[in-house]
Amino acid sequence: MLPIETARLTLRAFVEEDLKPLFDIQCRPDVTRYLMWEPRSLDEVRESLAEKITNRAPSRDGDVLSIAVVLRETGELLGDLTLFYRSQESAQVEIGFVFHPRFQGKGYATEASRELVRLAFEEFGAHRAFGRADARNTASCRLMERLGLRREAHLRENEYLKGEWTDEVVYAMLASEWVGRTTGQ
Ligand SMILES: CC(C)(COP(=O)(O)OP(=O)(O)OC[C@H]1O[C@@H](n2cnc3c(N)ncnc32)[C@H](O)[C@@H]1OP(=O)(O)O)[C@@H](O)C(=O)NCCC(=O)NCCS
Repeated sequence: MLPIETARLTLRAFVEEDLKPLFDIQCRPDVTRYLMWEPRSLDEVRESLAEKITNRAPSRDGDVLSIAVVLRETGELLGDLTLFYRSQESAQVEIGFVFHPRFQGKGYATEASRELVRLAFEEFGAHRAFGRADARNTASCRLMERLGLRREAHLRENEYLKGEWTDEVVYAMLASEWVGRTTGQ
């Protein structure tokens, strides 16, 4: 399944050498602003990386696939993609993405996440692929719209996060819509 090459990027498994660049991403308050976790210390990033290295072959409910996104030309780690295998019986797959601000606004997240959506349907047999975001996370909402996901729900104050009530939006695509996109129907 990995590595995957796109026009500008290599999508590959995480390795020990990703610690420093992953720390540079995960330690930043502007990155974690709308995430469920706070900026991480080096030790916390070490734990996160160890999980990412093991998250390679999801096959059961709750399993995760972690993908490092690297700029092929320089080898720099730009960010990461996550595929959450939520339910085998209902074929539900959740996707997520986190990129360093230095590499935002260049279309890298869209380029990489297109492959994540493809994996959800073509490798993991998803019936429905979905993403969730804090409703104020407009960059994430725009990304999911570019990927062709539909806005399915706007949940009012369903999470108490970082000291305040927050709204969550849900975006999704069905397998039939994916086939329609790829065959032009
Ligand atoms: C969510 C996140 C990954 C989106 O990243 P992003 O850089 O906005 O997304 P892309 O890489 O696809 O870049 C798209 C932007 O680049 C611009 N762009 C520049 N060159 C481009 C190119 N060659 N191709 C496509 N878009 C390009 C687009 O116009 C678009 O700008 P816009 O959003 O102002 O319209 C990023 O904001 C992030 O990591 N945030 C922190 C973590 C987070 O909140 N994750 C989501 C949790 S739900």
